[in-house]
Amino acid sequence: MQESSKQPHTEMTDKISDKISDKEGAVITLSDRIDTALLSHCPNLKAVCNIAVGYNNIDLEACTKAKVMATNTPGVLDDTTGDFTWTLILATARRLTEAESYLRKGEWDGWKLKQFLGLDVHHATLGIFGLGRIGQVVARRAVGFEMKVIYHDVRRAAPEVEQACRASFVSKDELLAKADIVTLHVPYSSATHHFIGKQELEKMKPTAILINASRGGVVDDAALISALRSETIAAAGLDVFENEPKLHPGFLELKNVVLTPHIASSSRATRLRMAMLAAQNLVAALTGKTPPNLLNPF
Ligand code: DGY
Repeated sequence: MQESSKQPHTEMTDKISDKISDKEGAVITLSDRIDTALLSHCPNLKAVCNIAVGYNNIDLEACTKAKVMATNTPGVLDDTTGDFTWTLILATARRLTEAESYLRKGEWDGWKLKQFLGLDVHHATLGIFGLGRIGQVVARRAVGFEMKVIYHDVRRAAPEVEQACRASFVSKDELLAKADIVTLHVPYSSATHHFIGKQELEKMKPTAILINASRGGVVDDAALISALRSETIAAAGLDVFENEPKLHPGFLELKNVVLTPHIASSSRATRLRMAMLAAQNLVAALTGKTPPNLLNPF
């Protein structure tokens, strides 16, 4: 179960509260925080339908108390998010953005033996935290790179899932110590807040890379910046951040990090599927039916 993050009531929340104060239903995004304060301004509200699978922006308990249905969009973005995780893995391992920016700045003066030495992805060990739907997509794609796949989760996956993913279950510490690439696919909650912090980063190989396309807050950004600065780990590829859309300024000073603005699910087809599913949830909620992706008890 995801829990809402303890984000403060923000200007963004005020904007959405003005827009939906007289509405019965709202299609929202993960930047819209739905909490008691907002709900108290929206007496007619019956449903809030997130265009996202993650719903840590919604206080489910507050919604249930206010008799507001909350929904999300699971399933339709797994492949696209899995593809983008691989985009980040390859870009980070092979230093793509750093090399491109060097080229664009006109600094390239010829082929050099040791230029932009990266990490081989093929035959490396991929460590997946969270073997849910997206984690499984990422694991299945690893076959093409002939990788060894290890994973850790709160619950061990069914044997048929492990087999389809060719993934072996290991402890958190073993994953951190053995993986060349650590990728995060866990939801954000109080249990996963700073799931990767200073201690965990110190357990990783100095040659390893960290990938996060799950949620900001799962990684302690300040600790990661220190680890990247001191080369405790080699590099990171990040699509999500604490306090989005604000970025910790330390990231911008580093070359060994690939940064993207929370776009892992952003293919044309997938964003359309997400929006359509949110709309279907809304229509069901407002016509007396149970929405297909209802998150709270009704
Ligand atoms: C989600 O659906 O939770 C994603 O983070 C949106 O891209």
